[in-house]
Amino acid sequence: MTIQEELQTTIRELVQPGKGVLAADESNPTIAKRFKAVGVENTEAMRQQYRSIIFSAPGLNEHISGVILFEETLEQQNLDGIPMPELLANQGIVPGIKVDQGKGPLANAPDEEITFGLDGLEAKLAAAKEFGARFAKWRCVFHISASLPSRQAIGANAETLARYAAICQSLGIVPIVEPEVLIDGTHSIERSAEVGEQVIRGVFDALARHRVNLETMILKPSMITPGKEAPKASPEQVAEMTIRTYRRCVPAAVPGIFFLSGGQTPEEATLNLNAMNQHDNLPWTMSFSYGRALQEPAQHAWKGDIANRGAAHQAMARRARLNGAAALGKYSADMEKAGQA
Ligand code: 13P
Repeated sequence: MTIQEELQTTIRELVQPGKGVLAADESNPTIAKRFKAVGVENTEAMRQQYRSIIFSAPGLNEHISGVILFEETLEQQNLDGIPMPELLANQGIVPGIKVDQGKGPLANAPDEEITFGLDGLEAKLAAAKEFGARFAKWRCVFHISASLPSRQAIGANAETLARYAAICQSLGIVPIVEPEVLIDGTHSIERSAEVGEQVIRGVFDALARHRVNLETMILKPSMITPGKEAPKASPEQVAEMTIRTYRRCVPAAVPGIFFLSGGQTPEEATLNLNAMNQHDNLPWTMSFSYGRALQEPAQHAWKGDIANRGAAHQAMARRARLNGAAALGKYSADMEKAGQA
């Protein structure tokens, strides 16, 4: 297979009707926070146990086309000694890898951040590919205030996202391009739309400059919502503003927009995605690439005890199924009731 054929094959497998991506690529400090919320100590053995369980939820592959892994997990085996990427690939789920190295302060830009990880990226991706990774993820974050994000932060992060995406494609790895506009703040949905448009324009400008092939990448943006401390918008409003914003700046050549959940509750994230998929004639497949909104119920069911494996499987499979329905616009809130999903 040529590199181009490899990219196209992976995109075809990732972007399928009624399927989305499970983001299970929490770094160790991030998974520590999630585990703490359910009273679990963050050790390698617990991470292995937890991820072994959620990746074996029955029927996961009916609604999940890809799973993003943290590097430790890519090289880990499940509780039965099967390498995690193989466990996924055996179910027809594409394994992927988070390759950014986290973020830190952007010099001369107070309160803004830049994502690290371009140094040595090519070697890291090549090694991950040997372990079975066929797509990758890189996350940048932008803070909203009356004056932020600055042009400087948008430009610098867009440039790194584009360089990352270009390197991925040169190795036959599909890049997930994740510019996250954080939900924290009191801003209105209009301000969120304004910032979302500026950021995504900046990102596609840089992607064009670095000759990234739009047909073989996935965009993973935030939904356009009001700030977390502002009054909530209805799913219909979120859907309308999100579609309006991205129609203005995401080329139709991009096959998929797979949203992050960014601190929305599991139900909100499902309702909002479903509302988007009520709209006709969308230029792209709109689906999910959630971390928290897919995993929270499974973490609460598991609580660090292998004896809760069955309940954790059910919780994981259920959230995947409900979001799979939302990706087709076929979800309704009463499906949340026990026994119906
Ligand atoms: P959330 O859905 O929890 O925002 O996580 C998605 C993700 O991959 C963040 O990088």
